[in-house]
Amino acid sequence: MACIGSSRLCAHVEKLCQYGHFTQLRRKVSTTTCAKSRPVDSRPSGALLKHCQNKTNTQDSRIGLARATSTMQTQMPGPLPDYQIDPYRLIEDDLKDMFDDIRLELINNTTQEELQPISTYYLDGQGKAVRPMLTILMARAINYHKGRNVLSHSQRQIAMISEMIHAASLLHDDVIDMSDFRRGKPSVNVVWSQKKVAMAGDYVLATACMMLSKIKNDEVTITISQIVTDLVQGEFMQLGSKETENERFAHYLTKTYLKTASLIANCVKAVTILSEADDRMIEMAYQYGRNVGLAFQLVDDLLDFVASSAALGKPTAADLKLGLATAPVLFACERYPELNAMIMRRFQEPGDVEKAFELVHESNGLEQTRFLARKHCAEASKIAQSFSKSAYQKALIIMADLVINRMK
Ligand code: FPP
Ligand code: MG
Repeated sequence: MACIGSSRLCAHVEKLCQYGHFTQLRRKVSTTTCAKSRPVDSRPSGALLKHCQNKTNTQDSRIGLARATSTMQTQMPGPLPDYQIDPYRLIEDDLKDMFDDIRLELINNTTQEELQPISTYYLDGQGKAVRPMLTILMARAINYHKGRNVLSHSQRQIAMISEMIHAASLLHDDVIDMSDFRRGKPSVNVVWSQKKVAMAGDYVLATACMMLSKIKNDEVTITISQIVTDLVQGEFMQLGSKETENERFAHYLTKTYLKTASLIANCVKAVTILSEADDRMIEMAYQYGRNVGLAFQLVDDLLDFVASSAALGKPTAADLKLGLATAPVLFACERYPELNAMIMRRFQEPGDVEKAFELVHESNGLEQTRFLARKHCAEASKIAQSFSKSAYQKALIIMADLVINRMK
């Protein structure tokens, strides 16, 4: 089957993602410098790459640098020079006891001793905590806009729930994927039986539901419940594949939204609802989360090809081994149509995984994936820039930058 033409694919991607025009963002905070354009021998998706910023990854240790240099007082809102803002430091107090509190909820809700270590296995505070961070930063940015300086109890609960839903989905995911390793330790399914892990995932989800119901806000309940139906649908979509390139990219992007972006988008939306913001603000918060979420997953799919398993804490090329064609492969198809047959047979024949991995590296698939992720981050930044100026609002912009430049 012939590959879709470059401009068609580009136009298709643009349409699917509902982007506005790519705006070059000049962020004072960024230590990024523009690199010279890389020599690209042929440009299968020329229009897609045309405006690419080709930033370098000099800010790969941005978090560490920001931590080391931050003079930011925690919990202090209001305009501050961007270079002083470290998102982690800024909400350190909000995050400090969060994992202890989650574990307490899970431990106190059961009399079944073994449920406790299984359900808390991925809630050990060793993850990136991206979801609660974005949720808290959005809550505080919107609260600031509304003239308030405190994170409400309900908003903090949503941040906890965001991590709990994520952890519940990982417990299920590791059973489905028969995973070996996650976050630098044996996957939960290696330590306990599949039956127990699946039930522990349900237990984490049920406990999160109880916490949600105690917030007593129907709109928030509907918003958060949507995440769970989306996660399941995203996983279901991942089991199937499409025949044509057009359908495949649409399928991939929808799946990416459902599996990853919905959680972030709906959590930041929920805290904005709790802030009693108007519908426009709620939609903006949601769009910020949607764009950051899509970028986050695109980078995840990219890192599966370029990061070391030591850095990721989980095996690399895992998607190909699971039969999944993510953005780098879908883009690589343009130059190497032989990938189509491999995609259709889900990389099952001997040598498929290795060949596909090699072709992705020889194509522009990785650059195009990064470019697409960068566009979503730019869109998120643009939205965050329109919020009232505060340290939290700036931290949301920095978070979008960190997502694109993360190394694990
Ligand atoms: C990780 O994906 C998995 C997810 C982001 C979502 C998994 C969702 C389900 C299993 C549906 C059930 C959900 C709940 C809440 C019970 P990945 O396998 O691409 O990433 P990985 O390499 O980190 O495993
Ligand atoms: Mg997995």
